Amino acid sequence: MNETLKTIHSLRSIHGNFSSQEIKDDDLKVILDACVRSANASFRQSYSIIAVRDRELMKKLSGFAGSRTLVFCVDFNRIIDIASHMNHPFTADGVIQFVTGSTDTILAAQTAAIAAKSLGIDSLFTNGIHRGNMNRVFELLDLPDEHCFPLIALVLGYPDKEPDHLKGRLNGPGVIHYDKYHKLTADELDELTGRYDDPDNHLWLNDIWMKEGFEHYLDWFFKKWSTRGGKPEGKSQMAEILEKIGFM
Ligand SMILES: Cc1cc2nc3c(=O)[nH]c(=O)nc-3n(C[C@H](O)[C@H](O)[C@H](O)COP(=O)(O)O)c2cc1C
Repeated sequence: MNETLKTIHSLRSIHGNFSSQEIKDDDLKVILDACVRSANASFRQSYSIIAVRDRELMKKLSGFAGSRTLVFCVDFNRIIDIASHMNHPFTADGVIQFVTGSTDTILAAQTAAIAAKSLGIDSLFTNGIHRGNMNRVFELLDLPDEHCFPLIALVLGYPDKEPDHLKGRLNGPGVIHYDKYHKLTADELDELTGRYDDPDNHLWLNDIWMKEGFEHYLDWFFKKWSTRGGKPEGKSQMAEILEKIGFM
């Protein structure tokens, strides 16, 4: 493997146990300079990245704190402001803009995680910013009222304890399709269920399913995990916010 592939294959999440060690400002700059190199639609770079330094604030935002948290927001305000400044009509309303902006944003976020790892800095992606009352994120970060949506937070830092294994990934049928979409057969579905059950593959969120007597990990996942919290009644707060800020 070359160095780039080694870095990508060594990526793993640090679930909250970041040490007090701080990232150097120079390293943060390298990460930020690298992540804005990501591809982006029509050269708009439809995102803003808020680099948070205060650990208390990080906790309030996502529930996690490390040395830095980068909050990646889909954001059209810069381009809208430039358009207005130059007296051009320009709108960023609607779901197409949101999907395109989200793509720009997430490419930058993943590039930041890879760049960080290449410097020996670990990370956690968290959508904790979407849990609880999401308005707090807008208030805490002073986000614009329209056309700006906090999409994902990336916590950066150094772990106080190394994870004991790398988590596995599916990489065959059902994930990779050649030439056209292949719907999985019953045998392939059974095979995948078994892959999740095999502890050597590390395809679990945790091993509670065994302790709770489920036959398969995915029985626990579908019965316990994916139904937690129930379904929101009516429209979710996220849908309301996306509508309010102009993306739906
Ligand atoms: C969109 C997204 C949201 C996530 N949110 C959380 C989170 O809130 N808490 C957490 O502990 N891990 C979170 N993760 C990390 C995943 O749990 C982790 O990537 C997965 O378990 C695989 O582990 P690995 O990254 O160590 O290989 C999130 C990852 C993504 C991509």
